[in-house]
Amino acid sequence: MLKVNEHYLKLQASYLFSDIAKRVATFQTNHPERDVIKLGIGDVTNPLPEACINAMHAAVDEMATTAGFRGYGPEQGYDFLRDAIAKNDFQARGAEVQSDEIFVSDGAKCDTGNIQELFATDARIALPDPVYPVYLDTNVMAGRTGTFKDGRFEGIVYLDSTKANNYVPDLPTEPVDLIYLCFPNNPTGSTITKEQLKVWVDYAKDNKALILFDAAYEAFIRDPQLPHSIYEIEGAREVAIEFRSYSKSAGFTGTRCAYTVVPKECIAYDSQGGKQALHPLWNRRHCTKFNGVSYPVQRAAEAVYSPEGMAQCQTLIDVYLANAKIIGKAMGELGYSYVGGDNAPYIWIWGNRDSWEFFDLLLNEAGVVCTPGAGFGKCGQGYIRLSAFNSEANVVEAMERIRLALG
Ligand code: MLT
Repeated sequence: MLKVNEHYLKLQASYLFSDIAKRVATFQTNHPERDVIKLGIGDVTNPLPEACINAMHAAVDEMATTAGFRGYGPEQGYDFLRDAIAKNDFQARGAEVQSDEIFVSDGAKCDTGNIQELFATDARIALPDPVYPVYLDTNVMAGRTGTFKDGRFEGIVYLDSTKANNYVPDLPTEPVDLIYLCFPNNPTGSTITKEQLKVWVDYAKDNKALILFDAAYEAFIRDPQLPHSIYEIEGAREVAIEFRSYSKSAGFTGTRCAYTVVPKECIAYDSQGGKQALHPLWNRRHCTKFNGVSYPVQRAAEAVYSPEGMAQCQTLIDVYLANAKIIGKAMGELGYSYVGGDNAPYIWIWGNRDSWEFFDLLLNEAGVVCTPGAGFGKCGQGYIRLSAFNSEANVVEAMERIRLALG
C-alpha cells in the first residue's frame, strides 16, 4: 500500500493565492456584470521592457539558424547572464559576489521553496510573521513542523513583525538554525537598514545559523541608505543565501527568470559538526532537478542590464511606486493607518476587522481584490495588503470605489 506524505495533510486546504483566485472566480460567475480590479496577488500588468523584447526576438531568430541553435544550456545559467548579474547587481554596489556563485532559475518562488531540501529535517526554522507563505508551507511539506494549532504550526519559531517593532522582527529568543528574512518585505512593504541587517548576520555567525534572504523586491528601494543585498553586510557571505527575481523588477512574472546566490564560503554542518559548503550541494540539486532557463529568456534578462534596459525597468517600477502612493494617500484620507509603498510595491493596511471580512467587503462593495493579511500569518490578522501592480487608471478607479464603499 502506497502511503502519501502525510505532512501535506497538515497544510491549510489550499495555497493562499489559489484560494483568493477561486473566491474571485466565484464572485465573477455570480456577478458577471461587475468589473473586478485586482490589487491582490503581486502580478505585474505592464508589458515587458522594449530592450528585453528585442533581445528575446533576436535570440529566437538565432535559435532558428543552424549556427545559432542551442540545445540544453548550462543548468546554472549562461555565463553572459551570470557575469552581468555579478557585475551590476553586486560588484557595482560593493558586494563581493562572483559569477559562478549565481544560479539562474525560473523563479524565486521555486528557489525559496526548494532550498530547504539542503537542510536536515530537524533544522529549527525561524519565520517572520506575517510573511510570504511559501517559506512556511514548504517546511510543513518537508516535515519540519507539528500540527496547525491556534493559527500556527508547532515547531516553528515565529518572529512577530508588528507595528511595535516597525515590522522588522527581533532576534529569536530560542535557538534556531535557519532564518528566513524578506526585505523589502512581502507583505508589509517594510525595509531593513544595514545596521539592523548586521545584527542578523552577527546572530547567524554566533549561532551557526543560516539566513535565507529574499530580496525579490530590492529594485523598489528608493532610499539610498537601504541595502539592496545582504552581501553589502560584512560577514554575510558565510551565513546567507540570497534570492532575486526579474518578476517584479522587469515584468517577468509570466516570462520566468530569477536567480539565487550561494557564496562559496556559505556553510552548514554535518552530524559530526564538520563544515559543509552549501555551494556544491545546491549545484548538485540544481543539476539533478533543473534543466536551465530557456536561452531567449536569459537573453531577455541580460538586456535588463543594458543602458536602455535599466532605464526602461526604472520607468516600469516608477509607475508601480506612483500607484503605491495613490493607494497610501487614499487609504490615509479614509482614516486607515498603513505602512509600505515607499520602497516596495505593497501597502499594508490596518483594517481594524477580520482580514477575510475586509476582503469580502472590498470585493462585494467595491469590486476590488486585496490580499487578506491573515493569509500571511497570525500577526497579519486585522490587516489587508493592497498591491500596486496595475495600471494607474485602474488604481485610481479602485481607490474611488473603495472611497465610496468605506467612506
Ligand atoms: C505575492 O503576491 O505575494 C506574490 O506575487 C506571490 C509570488 O510572487 O509568488
